[in-house]
Amino acid sequence: MTQIHLPGRLNAPEPGWTAQADVVIVGSGIAGLTAALRLRNQVDTIAVVTKDVLAAGSTNWAQGGIAAALGEGDTPDQHEVDTLVAGAGACDLDAVRILVGEGKEAVEELISWGADFDKEDDGTLSLGMEGGHHRHRIAHANGDATGAEIQRALIEAVRAAPEIHVFEHAMVVDLVPAADGGIAGLTLHVVGEGDADGVGLVMTRAVILASGGLGQVFSQTTNPAVSTADGMALAFRAGATLRDLEFVQFHPTVMYLGPDSRGQQPLISEAVRGEGAFLVDWDGVRFMEGVHELADLAPRDIVAKAIMARMLETGHPNMWLDARHLGKDEWEKRFPNILASCRSHGVDPLVDLIPVAPACHYASGGVATDLWGRSSLPGLYATGEVACSGVHGANRLASNSLLEGLVFSRRIAEVLPGELRPWSDPAADRRPVGLASGDVRRTLQETMTGKVGVLRGAQGLKEAAASLDAIPTDGGEEEVDVTAWENTNLLTISRLLTAAATGREETRGSHWREDFPERDDAQWAGHFDAALDTAAGTATVTFTPAPATDPR
Ligand code: SIN
Repeated sequence: MTQIHLPGRLNAPEPGWTAQADVVIVGSGIAGLTAALRLRNQVDTIAVVTKDVLAAGSTNWAQGGIAAALGEGDTPDQHEVDTLVAGAGACDLDAVRILVGEGKEAVEELISWGADFDKEDDGTLSLGMEGGHHRHRIAHANGDATGAEIQRALIEAVRAAPEIHVFEHAMVVDLVPAADGGIAGLTLHVVGEGDADGVGLVMTRAVILASGGLGQVFSQTTNPAVSTADGMALAFRAGATLRDLEFVQFHPTVMYLGPDSRGQQPLISEAVRGEGAFLVDWDGVRFMEGVHELADLAPRDIVAKAIMARMLETGHPNMWLDARHLGKDEWEKRFPNILASCRSHGVDPLVDLIPVAPACHYASGGVATDLWGRSSLPGLYATGEVACSGVHGANRLASNSLLEGLVFSRRIAEVLPGELRPWSDPAADRRPVGLASGDVRRTLQETMTGKVGVLRGAQGLKEAAASLDAIPTDGGEEEVDVTAWENTNLLTISRLLTAAATGREETRGSHWREDFPERDDAQWAGHFDAALDTAAGTATVTFTPAPATDPR
């Protein structure tokens, strides 16, 4: 068990206003909006809060698509095996069975809400292929703009539902506990609501976190700027358990824009490899052949590691993706946005190789939930990337993330109305806290990328922990603003992630240790959980064994 001293709760001004809603949904991607649509007419008031505009999150950026056993001859069992194999023994079998078993119906409901997926000439869904799948099972829209189409359809459906109240530019500062340890409400900063800098108290009977991932912990990521680990940090400070934080997925083919490029980087979807593109090194060698039976379409962790290994061996900062042979028609029809993105960076994939390198893409861990999206705290639910439902294990199978948000939000909406808590008073006194102060983000992100990135080792992890501990957390009430709250959330989750990555002395899925290069089921089949002793302000990161779940 590792112990870390951390701030208990965020500092914020006294709430200047109050409001109430039966259910507050935090986040507006596929998970949040599905929950809202499914809960309407079941509870009286539903508020969706999002710290930017509705479409600012990761859903809108998803390229490849949404995986489900939708095609002729495909079955949930086959999807299950691919998911478990990709997850490297760390998936929850029951959660995976739910994901694949309820996937088809969930996608059909999404279509009934207006999402328009690409079709073949005979009217059946056009299904793509991605890493780790043994079948074509990825539904996509407008070629490579699947997330944008899903986001459009969901926003239209939500806008047409007057019983769902949407608050954009509204950042949740903290969850407010009730006397019984459950959730009584949350503090919310709404830009333009009363005092522009003010924070209000929203009393609620249930909170659904659907606020996305932690990509901005790293200096290069495919995630948008809003992915600052807020939901995980909020839940943690309130006392909820976080699980599997060390399993951060690095996407193998992110366009390499040079050593100084930071923040969100252009993704080259795995679906491009699904259509026949392949990786080559600087000598033109197809290095994925012989690494895995699926070669360039091996599970994502294996491809990312192979690219990184080649980069380290050869001293080059990137490898190359050759997709020239796809031809003009295929590029324009299937990948119009990636084509435009490459060209905007001076690379024409019809004639040029695309420079690629791994970058942070997805948090497989998050707020630990049961099979109905319940966290360890009464009244707090989590769904989508912020959650750890157990479906991804140590490495998420491509295009299972949109599906997870859909399936588990539907399940939350099945149980939540029947278990709504009574209104409760806030319990906790406001405690002094440490707020990450000053301009710390760049230091934090570079530390995490350099020492807790694709390839990890004990020495680097130790140095990372020391650097993170040295980041000042002495900010007070006068410093509060969105940037300071985000930085505090990033710092909290970075420290926990580093502790879990240090503890896991093996290589499994997306967690790659140079000093422990083998998977070690005897010692490390199981999960690292992080939880806060809210009274002491001390975090513990503990390991709990669980049998490996992949067929081996
Ligand atoms: C991709 O299009 O390669 C990303 C899909 C995913 O993250 O599942």
